[in-house]
Amino acid sequence: MIIAVPKETADGETRVALTPPIVSKLVSAGLAVTVQKGAGLQAAFTDADYEQAGAAVEADVNELYRHASVVLKVQKPTSAEIGKMPPGTTLISFLWALSDPDLVEELKVAGITAIGMDAVPRISRAQTMDALSAMSSLAGYKSVLLGANALGKYLPMLVTAAGTIPPAHVLVLGAGVAGLQAIATARRLGAVVEAFDVRPAVKEQVESLGARFIDIPGMEQNTETSGGYARELKKETQKRQQEALGKHLRNSDLVITTALIPGKPAPRLITAEMIGNMAPGSVIVDMAAEQGGNCELTRPGEDHFTDNGVIIRGPLNIPAAMPIDASQLYARTIHTLLKHLVKDGRLHLDFEDDITKQATITHDGKIISPLLLHSKS
Ligand code: NAI
Repeated sequence: MIIAVPKETADGETRVALTPPIVSKLVSAGLAVTVQKGAGLQAAFTDADYEQAGAAVEADVNELYRHASVVLKVQKPTSAEIGKMPPGTTLISFLWALSDPDLVEELKVAGITAIGMDAVPRISRAQTMDALSAMSSLAGYKSVLLGANALGKYLPMLVTAAGTIPPAHVLVLGAGVAGLQAIATARRLGAVVEAFDVRPAVKEQVESLGARFIDIPGMEQNTETSGGYARELKKETQKRQQEALGKHLRNSDLVITTALIPGKPAPRLITAEMIGNMAPGSVIVDMAAEQGGNCELTRPGEDHFTDNGVIIRGPLNIPAAMPIDASQLYARTIHTLLKHLVKDGRLHLDFEDDITKQATITHDGKIISPLLLHSKS
């Protein structure tokens, strides 16, 4: 069984699916790994590092795909990449199958067994395979640094000979994995932090990180799904939320928004009118930019300077801004998943097992993802 790791081709993608330490573990377990020449360079892993870890390095990408039994990627494949995979190849990467039916169809027709890292169920048993959490946490940390960089102020309180600087006020909207890491990072940098989430269960977690949880009276009771995710709010609750958050926005120097609802566009938490009331110089980092943004004026992939002097950053693919650790963590989640799927040196897909069943999108020329089949029916 040959595991192949191509160089990522998506614009701005700097991560690589396997790192030399994980290659070493796979090779020790009797698996063969081939890495495309230069695949890890942007994440600071050289071809020599991979060779030392026991991988072969292949310069010809067509050859790499032709001999692969398993292809490991970060970003979903392009049509050209799918075209290089012989039928029966297993692909493991982020796929976002629910929002890309054309890709799923292509993978099905090409006879690829496609396993989505984003489709691994978020159950305790699969925690070490949870690439989504690993990437969200990293992005939460980086979002505070992106915000701090654009902010013309210190985050911590500073007592200097030239006078005292008060601490910056940071507001984090959405306190899931990314939001909690943003809170922890802003606290470590000395900011005063408040946060809000529609799921009341996170209040305790927010407070344990030293931030204040904003209670909004009259919120809906049933805001959480059985899987622990947020539900979409009713129109009137959304309005109440926006009204209540307005005054917190006016008092914030830096706002980090992370709110997402699985399978839906990002909820609109900040309207143009609310931004109009913010202080000049304040900064919003909209981590939901890729899903349409939490903020009405976000321009995905750009910094937007509003007429009243607010800076709105809409960063895309934040984990790619930290390719070394992002690749290390991603490779570890892939490794644990591979250990789950490989028996006696061969891939063994047991569809009775919940992790394999949920994560596999296409197999044997069919769409088998329960999530996709369920969403169609
Ligand atoms: P996510 O990325 O889907 O959403 C981010 C946050 O936005 C969530 O906390 C959500 O409640 C919040 N949100 C949605 N609409 C909002 C609104 N209108 N206003 C304010 N906040 C809003 O969620 P993420 O971070 O991927 O995980 C959420 C939850 O999933 C976790 O807290 C946990 O319950 C569960 N989970 C379980 C894991 C496991 O057991 N292995 C691992 C990771 C997450």
